[in-house]
Amino acid sequence: MDSYKKKMALILSKYLDLEVEKLFATIETPNKKGFGDLAFPTFILAKELKKAPPLIAKEIVESIKELPDEFLKVENIGPYVNFYLNNTYLIKRTVEDVISKGEDYGSEDVGKGKTVVIDFSAPNIAKPFGIGHLRSTVIGNSIYKIHEFFGYEVVGINHIGDWGTQFGKVIVAYDKWGDSDKLEKDPVKYLYNLYVKFHEEADKEPQLEEEARVVFKELEDGNEDRVEKWKLFKELSLTEYNRIYDKLNVKFDSFKGEQFYNDKMTETIETLISKGITEISKGALIINLDMFDIPPVLLRKKDGATLYATRDLCAAIYRKETYDFDKMLYVVGAEQSLHFKQLFKALAIAGFDWHKDCEHVPFGLFRFKENKMSTRKGNLIFLDEVLTKAEQLTKKIIEEKNPALNNKEEVARQVGIGAIIFGDLSNDRVKDIVFDWDKILDFNGETAPYVQYSHARICSILRKYCGNLEDDDWNPSLMKSEYEFDLAKRIANFNGVINDALAEYKPSTIARYLLDLAKEFNRFYHNCPVLKEENGSLKIARLKLIQATGQVLRNGLALMGIEAPEEM
Ligand code: ARG
Repeated sequence: MDSYKKKMALILSKYLDLEVEKLFATIETPNKKGFGDLAFPTFILAKELKKAPPLIAKEIVESIKELPDEFLKVENIGPYVNFYLNNTYLIKRTVEDVISKGEDYGSEDVGKGKTVVIDFSAPNIAKPFGIGHLRSTVIGNSIYKIHEFFGYEVVGINHIGDWGTQFGKVIVAYDKWGDSDKLEKDPVKYLYNLYVKFHEEADKEPQLEEEARVVFKELEDGNEDRVEKWKLFKELSLTEYNRIYDKLNVKFDSFKGEQFYNDKMTETIETLISKGITEISKGALIINLDMFDIPPVLLRKKDGATLYATRDLCAAIYRKETYDFDKMLYVVGAEQSLHFKQLFKALAIAGFDWHKDCEHVPFGLFRFKENKMSTRKGNLIFLDEVLTKAEQLTKKIIEEKNPALNNKEEVARQVGIGAIIFGDLSNDRVKDIVFDWDKILDFNGETAPYVQYSHARICSILRKYCGNLEDDDWNPSLMKSEYEFDLAKRIANFNGVINDALAEYKPSTIARYLLDLAKEFNRFYHNCPVLKEENGSLKIARLKLIQATGQVLRNGLALMGIEAPEEM
């Protein structure tokens, strides 16, 4: 649709003393029928021209003598200059464009030659991959795909939480109460149980905390026994995480976690000291950020142990050196906003001018009905269980609705997992979500299955048509109803929607769009016969229109990281 807006802005610029960009930004898409497809409000000119807006609109309309093929007519309604699109032209251009570009339809190459690093998912070993990490994973994955679609070179990094004091705790707990059989059987859950037990015991025996601190320091210093256990925990956990990533169909370009930076820390700290931005406070090394009115970054504790923030500073510098990124995004919960503020400020005062290319992309919490979830107490839902439950539920529905379906297992995975991803991504990124099984798995509501089902329906219609759409002549001028036009207009909006989703890093924009497109398709299908249409040419025209619709549904779902089965 933006191309039509641009054309309209160009026409208006010939009659008005305004920049094309300014005109473009002012043009609206009227919601009400009968007000044209695009409208220019003349209010902004009233002051300068010292005329009433309706008069200005009238004069503009009168002076436009000729219109290009894209437009049917131009009128003024009150203070607006209303342009009507040429239905046939739009349908023809849009459908042909979609069909010729296929899975690339809607893409751009604005990102060509630019590199974006995206830090996402990053679960913590020895703590479970909870539903909270799901948000980072699916949002990050979608932002990854959108960048790729626009031509960026993307590096997806899983900054695994494989280092830190929790390892001291888990090693202490394992040494005291551990059981290697249980560990092998269900490592993530077992390690988590140890972690929970540690905290319960530490409430009674506070010296356990000190013990864990010492053990972690030993690990940092390379103690063989500690390192061996850490390696085992990490390996077992990663195997399980990878199973989840496979289910979700999410890939990373790098798994360099926090531990990777352990032997690079001294250099980073020395660099920061040499820049004169550090100071010693109560025996610890810090970067004072008083001038920004935020707490200091703690770089090194009194005992020499480094922290989450130290590793992030080190990682940022390493990534700049390794990838020379143009932009680096951290898809991490909003509760870490202060951490990233501190990180970016520290980079700034250290003189790394690329600090301005780093951005925290926060998201809201997954809340349970009562309170913020806490890994320590153990009131937590395991992602693996959520995904399995979603698949099983979907399978049951498929058994009822379409028992003859061939690859039920695979479709149940695509639809069940799709429902979970969509349930997450359709929420505004920054808002909190209350975890609610019924809502996520409601297959009749505004969900992925609804979009997927519309897509599968289109595939089924196309399968039933026995001719060859590629060879058949097509005559879009036969499609005269508002249903066909509205559907084509919606399709033509796709690229603009992806642009918006990218500008704000908000996949929810795509989710909203796909629901609207699916609804638009169903409205069309309800009112316009396709296979049953008697006029052969009109039938072909409608088939092409739904072929294009199916392609765009598929492209949009793909950008959200959701698959689109052809049958369900
Ligand atoms: N592992 C961390 C957590 O679960 C998230 C890491 C995010 N990435 C980063 N570079 N800090 O809280």
